[in-house]
Amino acid sequence: MDSILVTGNGPLNGDIPIAGAKNACLTLMPATLLSEEPLTLTNAPRLSDIRTMTLLLQSLGAEVTALQEGKVLAMSSHNLTSQRAEYDIVRKMRASILVLGPLLARFGYAEVSLPGGCAIGARPVDLHLKAMEAMGAEMELRDGYVHAKAPSGGLRGGEFEFPFVSVGATENALMAATLAKGTTVLKNAAREPEIVDLAECLQKMGAQIEGAGTSTLTIQGVDRLGGATHGVVTDRIELGTYMLAPAICGGEVTCLGGRISLLEAFCEKLDAAGISVEETEKGLKVACRNGRVKAVDVTTEPFPGFPTDLQAQMMALMCTAEGTSVLEEKIFENRFMHAPELMRMGAKIDVQGGHATVTGVERLKGAPVMATDLRASVSLILAGLAAEGETMVNRVYHLDRGYENVEEKLGALGAKIERVQGQ
Ligand code: EPZ
Repeated sequence: MDSILVTGNGPLNGDIPIAGAKNACLTLMPATLLSEEPLTLTNAPRLSDIRTMTLLLQSLGAEVTALQEGKVLAMSSHNLTSQRAEYDIVRKMRASILVLGPLLARFGYAEVSLPGGCAIGARPVDLHLKAMEAMGAEMELRDGYVHAKAPSGGLRGGEFEFPFVSVGATENALMAATLAKGTTVLKNAAREPEIVDLAECLQKMGAQIEGAGTSTLTIQGVDRLGGATHGVVTDRIELGTYMLAPAICGGEVTCLGGRISLLEAFCEKLDAAGISVEETEKGLKVACRNGRVKAVDVTTEPFPGFPTDLQAQMMALMCTAEGTSVLEEKIFENRFMHAPELMRMGAKIDVQGGHATVTGVERLKGAPVMATDLRASVSLILAGLAAEGETMVNRVYHLDRGYENVEEKLGALGAKIERVQGQ
């Protein structure tokens, strides 16, 4: 398993490109299952999760061709051979559940392995199933698989109110509703930019959707969907991660293609911490205003609140901030696994349930640390960039799921960072 060696090396300066969003691409790819016509995605990120989704779609009989070094995905579900998503693929990536809605809507039947547990929480899929039941489907759990059956004549429009916001369940229900007979209303739906991106792509395919980006989605089902070409939205989590690099090390960095509208709540927190964020034609220019970052409190919320996927990275920044900050994690029940690793680097963190109290120290010290999940791994790299000496981040396969070319991108800003093969 690869590791990444980071040596604290002072301020970072320059431009950094931001890729297309992993969490948008992972829901846009299953949308190909809704139509016989080709769907082409541009600005696709080159990540191991995208390759896993490619394998899953190909296992169903879809054609998925990566062009232009993987930045373009040409897909077609003209000749699907199966409606069964096997455990061997699904266990590698929870987002595999997003084939359920499209298969059920187009073919009236689907068998999808249950994803199983995850490092950051139990992450059940009950809301996905309930939303499909609201469209008339019968759901049965058997042998570790969801067996889903639409009524004869296909799914029918219905109304469903999510008891709490779920990104994945909203995406699955939205895709299914595009081919349901009649009107579907989804209340308390997720409002993430990835949902808006999915809705835009589906509309290009001929879907009738209103309210994307609001809590109420209204979908008028159509008989069939066509093809489309769609550009994947910028990855706001990669964007936020790299905005923290100059915040934690000093210097001035422009994140190309970044927009404040993708990360308003996050930018407000950076402003309160003494970090300047300026929107330019090129993207977001980020720099420390003066001296030491100030401690700020953070609570994770669904969009437009502070994203849970930036909580670990924000904790890395707060480790050397002036004062004490409290980070409250409200989305996942076990998302502080990075805290003990940061404490190995000298951070002062007290975790009590869903709250982490961080007392800023002058400087962290490099140490060997272990990545436990995707966002935890990049928070350790950020901490290593500002630490004294060397930090060896182990198990970076987590990182490769959501960040392309980390070493090259940060290295171009002046970071001392290298991948160590097969530790
Ligand atoms: C998406 O996961 C993202 N993944 C996650 O990013 C992100 O953290 C999360 O949304 C929240 O923003 C992808 O888009 C592929 P949820 P998802 O359904 O859809 C509970 C990353 O780092 N819940 O909004 O799985 C659930 O357990 C990843 O890129 C149910 O109880 O998240 C969680 O506590 C990590 N039943 C909460 O809701 C359900 O049926 C929110 O989950 C569904 C969810």
